[in-house]
Amino acid sequence: MKHFSAPLLLAAACTLAPLPVLADLALATARNCMSCHNVDRKVVGPAFKDVATKYRGDKAAPARLATKVMQGGGGVWGVVKMPSNPQVNEAEAKKLVAWILSQ
Ligand code: HEC
Repeated sequence: MKHFSAPLLLAAACTLAPLPVLADLALATARNCMSCHNVDRKVVGPAFKDVATKYRGDKAAPARLATKVMQGGGGVWGVVKMPSNPQVNEAEAKKLVAWILSQ
């Protein structure tokens, strides 16, 4: 095993088991979320910490946000809309939202 490089192992792990091996930040990165979002600061979309603060205690938020992650939408944080994210399935959207809301 020693001669395997880390990137090669990572690539192999991703091919064999795409979801469970990814931590949530890694999943968000892999699904392109982090090109518009950052945990701590606003980029194109709101900071995930701000999203978590806004919906703290809102029991309907996780399901609603998971749908919005998949379908896209706007009108909450400003004039820019989030495009749909067809690369994310429902299970991933729920997982990502749970992670975002825990920030
Ligand atoms: C092209 C840029 C872009 C990408 C890629 C993107 N987002 Fe967004 N996101 C936005 C914008 C812009 C908003 C603000 C929309 C609004 O004001 O309602 C947003 C809002 C959100 C919100 C809050 C929605 C609300 O109603 O409060 C969540 C949660 C979110 N994004 C998660 C994600 C996740 C998870 C991904 C990756 C699958 C992702 N975003 C990918 C731009 C993006």
